[in-house]
Amino acid sequence: MPILKVESLDVRHGLLPAVRHVSLAVAEGETLALVGANGAGKTTLMRAIAGAHKPSGGRIVFEGTDITAVPAHERVRAGIALVPEGRRLFPELTVEENLLVAGQNSKQGHWNVESVLDAFPILKPLYKKRAANLSGGGAAGGRHRARSHDQPPRAPAR
Ligand SMILES: Nc1ncnc2c1ncn2[C@@H]1O[C@H](COP(=O)(O)OP(=O)(O)OP(=O)(O)O)[C@@H](O)[C@H]1O
Ligand SMILES: [Mg+2]
Repeated sequence: MPILKVESLDVRHGLLPAVRHVSLAVAEGETLALVGANGAGKTTLMRAIAGAHKPSGGRIVFEGTDITAVPAHERVRAGIALVPEGRRLFPELTVEENLLVAGQNSKQGHWNVESVLDAFPILKPLYKKRAANLSGGGAAGGRHRARSHDQPPRAPAR
């Protein structure tokens, strides 16, 4: 069973249809790259999966449950997270504080602060430093079961 299924999804910006009848399925442990021209609708699709943009048609199914109408904060708890483009960290908080904020409401599982530091050892010396000091790659770490990167990560993702 796929962990994430998108079925014939439509997402609009006002009158503009930005995502039209998109279907995809991702199995647990699988990495799926979504490739398309500028303006093709990649960001809009990922925002819809994360719950930040309401679709006008179709379904999003996560672990067998229809989450199309589930609010974004509950999707985070279920294990879905969007890593947005433009390094949207809390720059005034430390690396540690950013990880703790991200983990606070997320699904408990393999990923925790320790396993993130194991996966991204480059963060260890920066742990108590402000996130504003991170490079683009360092800023791409995270701790979620299904993670969407809007723009490819420059650090290795697991
Ligand atoms: N906030 C918005 N309001 C109105 N139209 C938007 C908005 N955001 C995106 N669009 C339009 O929706 C369409 C899809 O845009 P989207 O940003 O999803 O594409 P993208 O594939 O992520 O592009 P890029 O490769 O440039 O990041 C485009 O026609 C874009 O102009
Ligand atoms: Mg985009």
